[in-house]
Amino acid sequence: MRKNIVAGNWKMNNDLSKTAALLSDLKEQTKTSNAEVMIAPTFTNLWHAFEATRHDDIEVIAQNMHFAENGAYTGEVNASMLKSIGIQTVILGHSERRAYYNETDESLAKKVDTALANDMRIIFCFGEELADRKSGNEETIVENQIKKALFHLEASAFKNIVLAYEPVWAIGTGETASPEQAQDMHAFIRKTLEGKYGHTVADDMTILYGGSVKPGNAKEIFSKPDVDGGLIGGAALNAENFYAIVNAF
Ligand code: PGA
Repeated sequence: MRKNIVAGNWKMNNDLSKTAALLSDLKEQTKTSNAEVMIAPTFTNLWHAFEATRHDDIEVIAQNMHFAENGAYTGEVNASMLKSIGIQTVILGHSERRAYYNETDESLAKKVDTALANDMRIIFCFGEELADRKSGNEETIVENQIKKALFHLEASAFKNIVLAYEPVWAIGTGETASPEQAQDMHAFIRKTLEGKYGHTVADDMTILYGGSVKPGNAKEIFSKPDVDGGLIGGAALNAENFYAIVNAF
């Protein structure tokens, strides 16, 4: 079933005391929309955030995880560690992970398998770079990212996957894809899914847009028929702005 979701990716921001302060600001906000609300604090604050929001309508999710179940991977975090503190959902494939930590379609396919094997929900991110869009290759790039990381899966796996289209040129730049550009790409993504898995999987898929979503542009972007929500970076670091986006539905 397609849902509306607004997820805040806090990235490498907020130490423990700032996390606690932002959580208490978030708890004061009122949700007037039907969107599911998620926040992704950094690993060290996940347990605190999970405990602090236990009775609230906020799901705490992880920004990343390793593909191995266990082992000699210094500095890494695995699925069972996340699950053991109550985390059910993980963001995979964010463009910053792809760009700075060499995450590839192949390593992401392994992460996807591990997350699903551990009954986790995935927010799977992908999107083209500016040069790809300038040369008119954005659909080919996006299609390949989706195919290489996800098209080995059975149709039934997609009920645990949310897609997040995030054009790299719009992340943290203040430059947003126009609502029409977002809609065109989301419709293309749905068509790509339909080609492989049929109408029901495609129609049920929740597809988020990410890249400089703000209170001022969220309503117009979310009004597009194939845009089911947003993955929010900078604007998620302020409770009022974040809920203005949540309530833009
Ligand atoms: P932004 O980040 O909203 O700051 O552009 C979005 C993201 O990286 O998910």
